[in-house]
Amino acid sequence: MKTLPALLLFATFSASAAPNLIGERSEVPIPKAMQADFLANMRDHLFAISEIQADLAKGDFKSAGETASNRLGLNASSSASCRPGEMKGFAKYMPKQMHKAGFAMHSAADDFAEEMKKPAPGYRNALQSLAKITSACVACHAHFRLAGR
Ligand code: HEC
Repeated sequence: MKTLPALLLFATFSASAAPNLIGERSEVPIPKAMQADFLANMRDHLFAISEIQADLAKGDFKSAGETASNRLGLNASSSASCRPGEMKGFAKYMPKQMHKAGFAMHSAADDFAEEMKKPAPGYRNALQSLAKITSACVACHAHFRLAGR
């Protein structure tokens, strides 16, 4: 895989980092037969974000944190390929930087969950923490695509 200097953006994940949305992305050689599962996992990530937003709209910080932890956190089943040292499943095909980007997103979800456990998390804090999760989604999408798509 060629090295993309923009991957350094992964270190910051600030919501204001300008992602490369139309440039060339690195191809991830996940076999065709596994791509449907990979994409279903991704759609569940988006579903989880949507549920977190609905929880926040109701002022239910506790439920928002639980959704983040259970569906996107490092212990969630959807995170299996992105845990440190993992070499099974999708992990076998993911470039190192993509693996790191996945780890960063799942860690941000755990950070969000921790913030939501505080006595009065507040909307500003919740939205800032949520933006760290979604900017990690954006950063990975800006740099990688599945082979053959
Ligand atoms: C480690 C990298 C990475 C992270 C982090 C990541 N994605 Fe993805 N996602 C991908 C790749 C690669 C694709 C396929 C893109 C392509 O081939 O054009 C994808 C595709 C998708 C799709 C399209 C699914 C389909 O059926 O076509 C959705 C929706 C999605 N991601 C949502 C999310 C959300 C929401 C998050 C964050 C909570 C997230 N992703 C985090 C790598 C990532």
